Amino acid sequence: MQDKIERLREEIDAFKADSKDQVESFRIKYLGSKGALKGLFSDFKSVPNELRREFGQKLNELQNRAKTRLEELRDSVEDQGSETQEAPDLTRPAKPTPLGSRHPVSIVRNEIVSIFSGIGFSVEEGPEIEDDWHNFTALNFPPEHPARDMQDTFFIEKGDNDIALRTHTSSVQVRALERAQPPVRIVMPGRVFRNEDISARSHCIFHQIEGLYIDRGVSFADMKQTLLHFVREFFTEKAEIRLRPSYFPFTEPSAEVDVYWGLETETDYRITKGTGWLEIMGCGMVDPNVLENCNIDSKEYSGFAFGMGVERIAMLRYGIPDIRLLFENDQRFLEQFKTAY
Ligand code: PHE
Repeated sequence: MQDKIERLREEIDAFKADSKDQVESFRIKYLGSKGALKGLFSDFKSVPNELRREFGQKLNELQNRAKTRLEELRDSVEDQGSETQEAPDLTRPAKPTPLGSRHPVSIVRNEIVSIFSGIGFSVEEGPEIEDDWHNFTALNFPPEHPARDMQDTFFIEKGDNDIALRTHTSSVQVRALERAQPPVRIVMPGRVFRNEDISARSHCIFHQIEGLYIDRGVSFADMKQTLLHFVREFFTEKAEIRLRPSYFPFTEPSAEVDVYWGLETETDYRITKGTGWLEIMGCGMVDPNVLENCNIDSKEYSGFAFGMGVERIAMLRYGIPDIRLLFENDQRFLEQFKTAY
């Protein structure tokens, strides 16, 4: 017993460690539940009574010594750790900074705007909170006319000239025409608001791009050719459009523009309702009343306007099945547009 204690003490004092693993093996070897000290404590049972006091003391001392040594070893590898840690290599390239991506609505909006800037349209913006005059009256919506119900309005203030969230970007047409005499050739992107139930196909907030071209002698044929140019730039060179008669209070005649989408897949059938054609915007020749409301001589000038929903076009382009995805800002959705533009 005496020998064993002495030998162990020497071993413990001499133990060297230069890693955390080695410190741990020290702990297991001497202080662990099956370690050397446990072994000695069980040998202690057979020590004759008269020697118990002496050996008990020695064993306790040894155990304390082992614990102190464990701490010393721990400290030594920790110090070493910090000394041996390599200085950072400052010439290495930094970790890549994660980049965000453009929102699909912005990508599509930018692209549409850039197609029109290519043919001489400049960009105008107007307020999202509008008065009745700019959103309705100047656009030839007579007071109490049922056409106002086409667009469920979020009112902010009721009065002679109601204040509301604009229901379309056509209000910017009025602001632009009040400010400048023709020629006017502008696109007007912006957010619009309608009091509609939110579903996979419609939202109460969405984006439109409005276009307006007013000058001497602008004809319906000019409108058709401009829109065909846009559709061919945006979709494919071979795209075809058709104009279907429609109604808007501020244009006469008015039309809906359909683009030929094709009928090759089941999805094509579903989204075109089996016709192969998809409606992408409204358009028409600006009603003379609108020009007069903005102090523009409707005998001298004419022009066309059009308006399209950006979300709808983004959904078509990227095959997005639910408009709500465009408003939830889910990273897993947005990250897919990293390389889009
Ligand atoms: N303002 C119309 C709408 O929101 C679209 C439109 C714009 C139609 C310009 C014709 C001319 O539905």
